[in-house]
Amino acid sequence: MSCKRKDFGWATILLGTTIGFLSILLVISCVQQRRKQEKNTELRQQFFTQNGGGMLIHRLSGAGLSNVDFKIFTEEAMKEASNGYDESNILGQGGQGTKSRLVDRSQMAQFINEVLVLSQINHSNAVKLLGCCLETEVPLLVYESVTNGTLSDQLHGSMSDSSLTLEQRLRIAVEIAGSLAYLHSSASIPIIHRDVKTTNILLDENLTAKVADFGASRLIPMDKDQLINMVKGTVGYLDPEYYNTGLLNEKSDVYSFGVVLMELLSGQKALCFERSQQSKHLGSYFASAMKENRLHEVIDEKVINENNWREIEEAARVAMECTRVTGEERPLMKEVAAKLEGLRVARIMLKSKLDLG
Ligand SMILES: *[C@@H]1O[C@H](CO)[C@@H](O)[C@H](O)[C@H]1NC(C)=O
Ligand SMILES: *[C@@H]1O[C@H](CO)[C@@H](O)[C@H](O)[C@H]1NC(C)=O
Ligand SMILES: *[C@@H]1O[C@H](CO)[C@@H](O)[C@H](O)[C@H]1NC(C)=O
Repeated sequence: MSCKRKDFGWATILLGTTIGFLSILLVISCVQQRRKQEKNTELRQQFFTQNGGGMLIHRLSGAGLSNVDFKIFTEEAMKEASNGYDESNILGQGGQGTKSRLVDRSQMAQFINEVLVLSQINHSNAVKLLGCCLETEVPLLVYESVTNGTLSDQLHGSMSDSSLTLEQRLRIAVEIAGSLAYLHSSASIPIIHRDVKTTNILLDENLTAKVADFGASRLIPMDKDQLINMVKGTVGYLDPEYYNTGLLNEKSDVYSFGVVLMELLSGQKALCFERSQQSKHLGSYFASAMKENRLHEVIDEKVINENNWREIEEAARVAMECTRVTGEERPLMKEVAAKLEGLRVARIMLKSKLDLG
């Protein structure tokens, strides 16, 4: 009996000690958790301050901004909305996959200025900037979601059965041109896109084009050396004049748009190593075909029919004008938009005439 009681006693002590020990562990882990949370909160606040949160709030409350819906998102809301930063919800990182922190106050002010400029963009063919999150090390911009993939997917993706008609392609070209013309001349300050390409053009459920990632490269703060050295853009679409001089103006976008138009007409990629060495750039491939009177070889056969060749030629000519060697010789985006719209309207009128006859 006494032996049993003793055993029981030991067990009690052991149990007591274990519970005590576990409680201490629990308390420690709670404290640690709390500390971690506090530290996280502190860090988020620190990032928010570093990224110009105070300045943004101040500027947003000031007068003169038309987009009052611009939102500042918390880090928590961002994580939730993007499904834990799921890849499919991330559009890009500052145009070039570059990550960069804002290092000083003047960069911060510049960044906030540019966010405010982008927040004022209001065009039916430009992806709308809804807000931003400044509680992360690298600030995040939040855009409206556009559901049906990129123009590149539509032209080169596996959905070959959903091939676009000439009317759709011309409409999309007009929409892109109109959006770029707006950015160049009607936005609150002129904005040069710098990276016009079919992967930066999104399509909504009605296949309406929305230009994305505009001016994103302007938003990468960097030191002066990089500014001089770094030419932004994508091989295949890059304006050769800008590439050679490093001097940027809106005609660089006109060049890239010309390549996009060639891509729409030909259904071919802007850069393709399966074509011969001289033809790997769509710009030169298309130009030599034009010059040698064999345009039909590069035009997507899926869009050609018995009564639209003249229009295809006209559109091809516009693409050639856009990709002239010097920027000065290229038309303004506004002129390009008007010309393409003229073509499109003529097409619709011709079509209704044909339908009637
Ligand atoms: C955007 O522009 C449209 C007209 O083009 C106008 O009705 C609308 O109020 C504008 N929205 C903002 C937020 O400025
Ligand atoms: C847009 O996407 C939806 C769902 O992904 C698809 O069902 C629809 O066919 C697409 N529309 C076009 C015009 O591609
Ligand atoms: C697509 O078109 C339909 C019919 O015109 C319209 O109701 C709908 O809002 C459009 N969708 C988008 C995303 O604009």
